[in-house]
Amino acid sequence: MNLTAEAAIQRAQVSLRNAGVDGPRREARLLVALATGAERSLAADARLTPEAQGRLAALVARRAAREPYAYLAEEREFMGLRFTVSRAALIPRPETESVIEALLEDQPAQHVLDLGTGTGAMLLSLLDRWRGARGVGVDRSPAALAVARHNADALGFRRRALLLASDWGSALRPDPAFDLAVCNPPYIPSDEIGGLDPEVRDYEPRLALDGGSDGLDPVRALLPGLVRVLALGARAVFETDPRLWDGLAELVSQSGGADIACLQDLTGRRRGLVARFAGTRE
Ligand SMILES: C[S@@+](CC[C@H](N)C(=O)[O-])C[C@H]1O[C@@H](n2cnc3c(N)ncnc32)[C@H](O)[C@@H]1O
Repeated sequence: MNLTAEAAIQRAQVSLRNAGVDGPRREARLLVALATGAERSLAADARLTPEAQGRLAALVARRAAREPYAYLAEEREFMGLRFTVSRAALIPRPETESVIEALLEDQPAQHVLDLGTGTGAMLLSLLDRWRGARGVGVDRSPAALAVARHNADALGFRRRALLLASDWGSALRPDPAFDLAVCNPPYIPSDEIGGLDPEVRDYEPRLALDGGSDGLDPVRALLPGLVRVLALGARAVFETDPRLWDGLAELVSQSGGADIACLQDLTGRRRGLVARFAGTRE
């Protein structure tokens, strides 16, 4: 006899709880919806087809091995847009949405640079809101760039977004200069990666996480190239770990950043830093 939706949820819930997954009932419901293709939750007594039961078993096994739900669903919503995600790129986070939300309160930029673009979430969501803007996203990971290019195409930004393989700003020419740079660099100190949740530690790309000895090595590496491509008076915005904010501010200031200010996340923590740069050109 085929399982009812409620029985399938309960079974999945037990497996997920035993595997240490947070919120196992909620996750079980999501997996049943994914396996059955249901947009909304099924009636408790609806019966799963044998095919859906097979898909559910495979999904539960992957989630019980602590693979993040977003990699199973192959998508994640960010700023109201649906991004394709894969293990090649970091799953866009709500903390990053709060940085973007804070930026949107300010004047629109014309030419946006996204350093370490991953899925393209920051760049493409800004282009979505600022219809007159165009931008460049760079990433050192060709696999992440393929995801970003897919998202740029799927969301209709291919003509306004250029996605380039580059070690931070090294492949960029200073002309035309950018009036806004956004960057969510890897910022987990290397020796803290082992203590992260398995969903992050075992599945998200190390290149997207590893911030070196103190979490700020990527920022040290990228600042000289960034300053070179900024327009006069351009803004640069960084996401960070609130614990690293003071150190980040010092590095930014040493590179010529002024008017340094804090962007808070939804819990009031210092999640973003914005600075203005003198730049080299109009
Ligand atoms: C924390 S993830 C941010 C991804 C995306 N911007 C977001 O907010 O969801 C950092 C990104 O920086 C990229 N990255 C790491 N080192 C890099 C480098 N040297 N040059 C360019 N990109 C790099 C990683 O591949 C990753 O996509």
